[in-house]
Amino acid sequence: MTARPDDLATALPLHGGPDLRPDTVVVAGGRPAPEHDAPVGPSIVLTSTYRGAGEITAADRAYGRFGNPTWEDLEDVLARLEGARLPGLLYASGLAAVASVLALVPAGGRLVLPRHSYQGSLALAADLEARGLLRVATVDVTDTDAVVAALDGADLLWLESPTNPMLEVADLPALLAAARERGVRTCVDNTFATPLAQRPLELGADVVVHSVTKYLAGHSDVVLGAAVTSDPGLRERLHGHRSLHGAVPGPFEAWLALRGVRTLAVRVERSAATAGELARRLQDHPAVREVRYPGLPGDPGHARAAAQMANFGSVLAIVLDGDAAGAEAVVDALRLWTPATSLGGVESLVERRRRHHEERHSVPETLLRLSVGIENVEDLWADLDRALSGADR
Ligand SMILES: Cc1ncc(COP(=O)(O)O)c(C=O)c1O
Repeated sequence: MTARPDDLATALPLHGGPDLRPDTVVVAGGRPAPEHDAPVGPSIVLTSTYRGAGEITAADRAYGRFGNPTWEDLEDVLARLEGARLPGLLYASGLAAVASVLALVPAGGRLVLPRHSYQGSLALAADLEARGLLRVATVDVTDTDAVVAALDGADLLWLESPTNPMLEVADLPALLAAARERGVRTCVDNTFATPLAQRPLELGADVVVHSVTKYLAGHSDVVLGAAVTSDPGLRERLHGHRSLHGAVPGPFEAWLALRGVRTLAVRVERSAATAGELARRLQDHPAVREVRYPGLPGDPGHARAAAQMANFGSVLAIVLDGDAAGAEAVVDALRLWTPATSLGGVESLVERRRRHHEERHSVPETLLRLSVGIENVEDLWADLDRALSGADR
């Protein structure tokens, strides 16, 4: 077993050829070479080090913190899904990938990020700012002019679209082009959309990050992250940061996530369709003040999402009438939906986001984030309708 070449064009062959569509890549990618009696699926390679002598080059794995064949199976698949020319990089968590990208900002540099980004990314940026390592400008990502104005003197534009948990949609092509013109580096957190719905590198982003924990792994049983880029210099810096800071995944987690990726296309197709149907029904529910879902024609992000996404995703948010206690009572009354943080698994989850003290105060107290799974839509609706109507209370 030799270390894999860094350029995907010369990497291990993908069964069926290089031009496979994404919903085939999730199945065919990251498999052993097709030799007689070879296992059909990838193995879990458990090793902390690799045989070798002489000078270590970039092509060598050398040590378990630098690379692992089981990571590489998934790193190749993620790169192909995102349309990258180089293998992705796995991390111990999504936030570890975020941290690695934020470390690209030079000391004292300026970071622009949406005010409703994932609260962990916001908290990390605030921590770096408090320690004097960078300066942060938060923006309303739906206001393209305001974001562009904030790019003056910026080093990194962080984008999330749709945002967590407000489901705001950024004009990705316009913002990525504006940043490029100004020499500002860009990173898109593509966790909510998945690469099947949106490919930010093709829209001009420098780096894409994922909480692999969510849709990619898909079963709420693994914590993992990834960064993907086509820029060799950036990849080298990210790889260096990962090796030095040590936020590397276990091979078992990588294997489990690749096993989850196999069904990504069918899971996302089903859950996005269900999310759309639930969003339409929730709009007419008397207990619901507002539904936020880019798939609804009346949603402020609808036109943008329709232009840049292949589906509208499987997360929606509802704002209820009443107060926080009333919203918690609705969560409590649900039987099929699981009350839990996180998203992107096969099981539907629900959460009042302001239960997190760190969540932005501009997120309404009664906003429930719904991560739609792959259960039957009528069962999901019946449970929601009953809980919202207070039938059990
Ligand atoms: C959009 C987004 N990005 C990043 C993260 C962080 O990922 P992880 O929990 O895998 O560290 C999350 C987690 O919820 C997320 O929702």
